[in-house]
Amino acid sequence: MSSEPSPRQLFEAARDAMSKAHAPYSKFPVGAAIRADDGQVYLGANIENLSFPQGWCAEPTAIGAMIMGGGKKIVELAVIAERLPLCTPCGGCRQKISEFASADTRVYLCDDQGVQKTVTMAELLPYAFETDVIG
Ligand code: THU
Repeated sequence: MSSEPSPRQLFEAARDAMSKAHAPYSKFPVGAAIRADDGQVYLGANIENLSFPQGWCAEPTAIGAMIMGGGKKIVELAVIAERLPLCTPCGGCRQKISEFASADTRVYLCDDQGVQKTVTMAELLPYAFETDVIG
């Protein structure tokens, strides 16, 4: 058996992550699963806060797990939301993902049955903010 997770396995991982969402205010659980360049799968769920703007999305939770686990690049990513088939990462998350992704990084959009659509970061975030002027 290949050690590389299939899109199906990333979907299942994202769905498991979604079950850990802390979303008592929006009641909109989201899960994300990243396969990183180190071969590991890193998970995230949205974590809301009574002070609403202090909550954050599933994708940055997964990015934080990846960075702390030693992963450096997002190879592919699955996203799922319980109440919205094919939920796409929000605008802020697209920018956060792009920091660790490439134009051809695949993003798997899911419903409760599995991966239903695959898009690239170039499709999700055309004209991304990129410059070598900073840093
Ligand atoms: N949410 C995510 O976790 N990821 C997205 O890309 C879209 C939105 C969360 C944030 C909030 O907890 C809930 O979904 C409703 O917006």
